[in-house]
Amino acid sequence: MPGLDRERIVALDKRRVWHPYTSMDEYAARVDPIVVVRAEGARLFDADGRSYLDANSSWWVASLGHNHPRLVAALERQARENCHSALAGMTHAPAAELAEALCSVAPRRASPPGHQAGPADHRPGLERVFFSDDGSTAVEVALKLAIQYWAQNGRPSRTRFVAPDGDFHGETIGATALGGVELFRRPFAGVLAECFHVPSPGDPAVSLETAIAALSDLLHRESDTISCVVVEPIVQGAAGMWMHDPAYLSAAREACDRHDVLLVADEVFSGYGRSGPMWACQHAGVVPDLLCTAKGFSGGMLPMAATLATERVFAGFLGGRERAFYYGHSFCGNPLGAAVALEVLRVYEEERVLERARPKAARIADAFSKLGALPGVARTRALGMIGALDLAGDAGYLADAGWRVYEEARRRGAVLRPLGNVIYVAPPLNIDDAELDALLAIVSESVAAVLGAGARGPA
Ligand SMILES: Cc1ncc(COP(=O)(O)O)c(C=O)c1O
Repeated sequence: MPGLDRERIVALDKRRVWHPYTSMDEYAARVDPIVVVRAEGARLFDADGRSYLDANSSWWVASLGHNHPRLVAALERQARENCHSALAGMTHAPAAELAEALCSVAPRRASPPGHQAGPADHRPGLERVFFSDDGSTAVEVALKLAIQYWAQNGRPSRTRFVAPDGDFHGETIGATALGGVELFRRPFAGVLAECFHVPSPGDPAVSLETAIAALSDLLHRESDTISCVVVEPIVQGAAGMWMHDPAYLSAAREACDRHDVLLVADEVFSGYGRSGPMWACQHAGVVPDLLCTAKGFSGGMLPMAATLATERVFAGFLGGRERAFYYGHSFCGNPLGAAVALEVLRVYEEERVLERARPKAARIADAFSKLGALPGVARTRALGMIGALDLAGDAGYLADAGWRVYEEARRRGAVLRPLGNVIYVAPPLNIDDAELDALLAIVSESVAAVLGAGARGPA
């Protein structure tokens, strides 16, 4: 609606819009929302003419920044040709080309020197792509693939899932069952699919050895009933940017191999260079059986996602109509999303996004390590283009201190949405150095302001 002024937008919003992850009575009573009118690079521009650094890339999607000109151009080009045609029994160039490009960058097992491929080498890589709409549906696809795979390949008792505590995999009922944040799961407890939650190696109270042993023991006892183990590799975002040793992922792969259980890597957040390499699985040299990607996959411009599968999983759905995967969203493989996602991969390669993010990641690590010196900061950590700190005291998603930091940061020109008492940044991978420094300075000043006048931000 052109010409709508800020006051009117907020009035309509407050009357009609039900916001995600928001306590609506608090929102209605107390929140004066930022009204975004434009977004570019790492910045959001509001209706009052102010701009804000987008510290979390708008819920982790804008890995290449907002409105990257090449992505906008790809979208415009594709919109003139074909905005949408279904993918059931038909195809189009953007989906076909994207699937090929995606498989070519997917995690691949490196063969040791002189190694001859043998019958045990059933996991050369991820060879098939199933498109869906967002992170949740990419995970839902993986769960349904896993269950149906076993149902029609001799192990119908394998209907349960495994996921580490703290994991987050999305909003559908299937993904909610995996969720390791109890607060998000609680209302649906009675209707969720069965999932074993195992101790997370990212939880500061759990040792790596304990986490590995718990997963191995569970698979040893229950593999007859388990279809797949689902993990957020290396970094558990919604748990509060919990990071863990790649040895856990290697151990999960080994335990899954030992018991022939499928391993699903949810790279919705960690993929596309967020943790450093293109995929977090690469920290451990692990190839999962199924890999979910979304968010940065479409440059954060359009809802678009994919679940990649090995040839072995794909082959488990061949051999007759009754064995097909009867699943598909209206917008599966949407040409607009596919054209943009293909351009994203080209930008990653041609603009050397991962390589150029490395020194930026080092700046983030340095700034967060200095923040650890502030009294009132319990711990800090960084990995790739993520930096995080825990404020001491009240923990959990409903903790309040993080929101005080949010207010301080907003006054200083950054949107720093906390996860409970966890303050973090996950900016676009290609954020300008000066803007990154400005963002890190705002984090430091805002945290220091909340922790009290006595605590000054580190230099
Ligand atoms: C690891 C992970 N998986 C899945 C999802 C769900 O993605 P979406 O919100 O696009 O449905 C998220 C969202 O934050 C996520 O972080």
